[in-house]
Amino acid sequence: MEYALTDKTPDQLATECLIVGIHENSGLSEAAAAVDRALGGAISAIVQRGDIEGKPGQTLPLVSTSGKAERVLLVGMGAAGELKPAQYKEAVARAAQAAADLRAATVANFLPSVPVKDRSPAWALEQAVVATEDALYRFDRLKTRAPARPVPQSCIFGTPVGPEAAAREALAAGSAIARAVSFAKDLANLPGNMCTPSYLAEQAQGLGTRAGLKVSVLEKTDMETLGMGALLAVARGTHEPAKLIVLEYHGNGTSAPIALVGKGVTFDAGGISLKPPANMDEMKFDMCGAATVLATVQAAAELTLPINLIGIVPATENLPGGSAIKPGDIVTSLSGQTIEILNTDAEGRLILCDALSYAERFKPAAVIDIATLTGACVIALGAQAGGLMSNDEALAHELEQAGQEAADRIWPLPLWEEYQKQLDSNFADMANIGGREAGTITAACFLSRFTEAYPWAHLDIAGIAYKSGKEKGATGRPIPLLVEFLRRRARLS
Ligand code: BES
Ligand code: MN
Ligand code: ZN
Repeated sequence: MEYALTDKTPDQLATECLIVGIHENSGLSEAAAAVDRALGGAISAIVQRGDIEGKPGQTLPLVSTSGKAERVLLVGMGAAGELKPAQYKEAVARAAQAAADLRAATVANFLPSVPVKDRSPAWALEQAVVATEDALYRFDRLKTRAPARPVPQSCIFGTPVGPEAAAREALAAGSAIARAVSFAKDLANLPGNMCTPSYLAEQAQGLGTRAGLKVSVLEKTDMETLGMGALLAVARGTHEPAKLIVLEYHGNGTSAPIALVGKGVTFDAGGISLKPPANMDEMKFDMCGAATVLATVQAAAELTLPINLIGIVPATENLPGGSAIKPGDIVTSLSGQTIEILNTDAEGRLILCDALSYAERFKPAAVIDIATLTGACVIALGAQAGGLMSNDEALAHELEQAGQEAADRIWPLPLWEEYQKQLDSNFADMANIGGREAGTITAACFLSRFTEAYPWAHLDIAGIAYKSGKEKGATGRPIPLLVEFLRRRARLS
């Protein structure tokens, strides 16, 4: 979709769908009031009659009006001055969906002119692009008879963002984030037979060419030479060759880079500790961390952020082939530490630990890993927040704040020393599982043994990376959080 800005008032716009906000308690937003005047009080009459209460995200299409717009879409924006950031995003998403349902090709959206609590008009404009693209996204390239569904082609925003330049910047940032989110969704929604480790590597190469990045792909033999025994152990169960993908974006001379490490298990059957069949298809989403890393690097490059950024993606399938690792097997990681693999379904930490050791060579200022790591995290935090665990309080705080700002939240869990003993093994330096209790934390404890050389944070995104059921599909989270984090780091540099 094409986005543009207007400084016209809503009643002056000839559009197929004009979107204006309605407040709870019968108030019209400024834009709605302007249209109301032009329509001789038609909107206030509808609101007075109680057809729309103005609850956040409610929509009411008025399909035939005497104004310049073919249709007016009223959207609930809550009580004036009380609209929370997440409610705003939800309302914009519902509005985009409703405009598409109306088959409008052109849209003029004045929701960004409605004040959002604790947020600037520039934020509202940026997020309007992100939320609109998120709502209109479809993955139908594998349907031979994709339902003809005309989506809006152009969207004009009415916004009070002050100087022209600031508004343009917000639009550009919103578009970059939205493109990253949809890139990641495309990668993650592809089935496991198409999105293989090799496919991820090709996509990384393509991104490198597009964005002018250095991309290298380590093959099995390279990893053997390095001694990545943990990553290669997982890869033994499948015929698909494992890859370690490394992307480098240089935007700030020789300053220490941020490294993002993303779990790239393109299908997790559990290995010999085979998963039960119900919903196993969703384990194609076990590479959402990898998709997040590729997409975030893309956004950083598009925004030409003045930072240095490394993306590292260990990629493999986790299948129960004849050469697969077995419970009880002991392997040696790149760090030299030995691991007793008690459950082959705890594979994410095995590929991540070698990638995290590998990250040391970049002398990073901080390392953030992103992984659909534990079912326990879905139980603990659900789909609202990702889990945050870190060896550095300042870094954890920065990430939490960035998530708060982007309405893409994470929530801390403790990484206390006391949990470490759950990983004790009688036969190796550590076991790869820590029992039923605190499964998300013991997974992070495992990773913490490979991240002592730098400030590190772990984001467990098992609950937020994709949706199940009727809405099954990748979400692109936590890309908005990470882009916000990187922008804040860029401002400090
Ligand atoms: N990829 C899964 C985690 C997962 C589960 C993500 C559900 C999304 C939804 C991971 O590799 C896994 O299998 N973890 C095990 C760990 C256990 C064996 C200690 C789990 O969570 O059950
Ligand atoms: Mn697993
Ligand atoms: Zn997994």
